[in-house]
Amino acid sequence: MLKSFSFRIGLLFFALSAALLMGLRIFSYQQTIVTEEQEIRQIIQAHEDEIEHGIDRDGQRYATYLVDALTGQPDDKHLILAMKSGGKLHGNLKQWPAAIGKADGWYEAKVLFGRRTRAVDALVLLRHFKGGHRLLVGYDLARLEATKKALVPALIRDVWISVFAALLLTLLLLFLISRRLETVNEAYRHVMAGEIDFRVKDDGSRDEFAQLSQNFNDMMDWVASLISTLQDSTNSIAHDLRTPLARMRLRLQQMEQQPGLDAARHAALAECIEDIDQLTDIFNGILRIAKAEDLSIAREFDAVDLRRMLEDLADYYGAYLEGEGQGIALDLPAHPLYALGDRHLLSQGMANLIGNASKYGGAGGRISLSLKPSARQKGMVEMTVSDKGPGIPAEFRERVKERFFRMDASRNSPGLGLGLNLADAVVRLHRGKLLLEDNAPGLRCVVLLPELPHGVKPS
Ligand SMILES: Nc1ncnc2c1ncn2[C@@H]1O[C@H](COP(=O)(O)OP(=O)(O)OP(=O)(O)O)[C@@H](O)[C@H]1O
Ligand SMILES: [Mg+2]
Repeated sequence: MLKSFSFRIGLLFFALSAALLMGLRIFSYQQTIVTEEQEIRQIIQAHEDEIEHGIDRDGQRYATYLVDALTGQPDDKHLILAMKSGGKLHGNLKQWPAAIGKADGWYEAKVLFGRRTRAVDALVLLRHFKGGHRLLVGYDLARLEATKKALVPALIRDVWISVFAALLLTLLLLFLISRRLETVNEAYRHVMAGEIDFRVKDDGSRDEFAQLSQNFNDMMDWVASLISTLQDSTNSIAHDLRTPLARMRLRLQQMEQQPGLDAARHAALAECIEDIDQLTDIFNGILRIAKAEDLSIAREFDAVDLRRMLEDLADYYGAYLEGEGQGIALDLPAHPLYALGDRHLLSQGMANLIGNASKYGGAGGRISLSLKPSARQKGMVEMTVSDKGPGIPAEFRERVKERFFRMDASRNSPGLGLGLNLADAVVRLHRGKLLLEDNAPGLRCVVLLPELPHGVKPS
């Protein structure tokens, strides 16, 4: 999942948006606190200004009177006002705080004032006036603490809302991205299923995804034209060459049948005819493989009853194999199993495997043919062809699927090295896998095909 681009982008987007939303919430929380603190400073400053003006205007006695009057019946229970003049303390401060320094300015200190029985944290402003008078205006910070405390649950709730909002945004983003990507992915699936003409529809948008779809369509146009050119030329080469070859073979046969031909010439002509037959076989083999690699055949796929197909193959090859002293053992399920495919091509692929088992399995060997739901991969069926011959060493099990590859040990037996290549192409065309395994002794060829559940109509 970590490798998924959408997942990583989603995670990044989620982390960034959650951090941004949370950052904004925390910033607004701090702003509220800062604003409240500023308000407190303004209240203190306003009182200090008023008393200072009072001193300037009406003298010290009036200011002392003002302090006493304001704290006698306080409008604001958090306000601290004190004036020390001539050793006397006016205002609501019970004791001049020791922690406050000598210089004018702002301090944070613990003070005992009003009806409080315990000292509280307060923000205070200290001012000295002529004649040794000292004014202290302060504010109980309990209000600020109360605001902070009240805001914390709201902050936590807002953080959760931010995370949730970020999650919703991320899911929306992922949904939009994957919906656009899905159109191209779907197109790939159609093409892989053989609909080589399938193209992504133009939905009128002009973004990067539309560009991707357009590139896909252009690429498929190009691939389709290449395939058709290649198929046309393969077909015409095979066709054009087969006719002169057939004519040549006829002429050689006529020469071979001429009376009075000496034995050496007769043998040479027979060899030429054999070579021509082999060339014709190669062309036919290549044409068959080209057909198996033609994805457009998948459009005509139908439900194939694999159990029936193997029974027919066993019937068809049974007599021949009996003749070789080999025999065939069938292991089929009680119920039919189906795959979506081309019955003729599948039979041909399986026939190649049976042919190999007979050719390389050794005289007297028994060939086993079986069919069952696959235990290795869910939703797949498994057909096997096994023999008791020499088998194929592990290091050659992939190479023998290559065109024209034959093992040294097989050079003496007839063959072109095309049989497994065709079988492999047929199986891949059917979205399956051809596995070659050790049958200890011998070779086991396993054909894995996606099962078509019975009753499901191929679309
Ligand atoms: N059942 C088997 N046991 C041992 N070796 C095998 C078996 N099947 C295939 N091989 C090896 O794999 C090679 C390729 O097989 P493939 O069927 O492609 O070609 P071929 O049988 O030689 O020729 P043809 O084109 O006639 O099938 C064979 O030449 C042989 O060496
Ligand atoms: Mg073969």
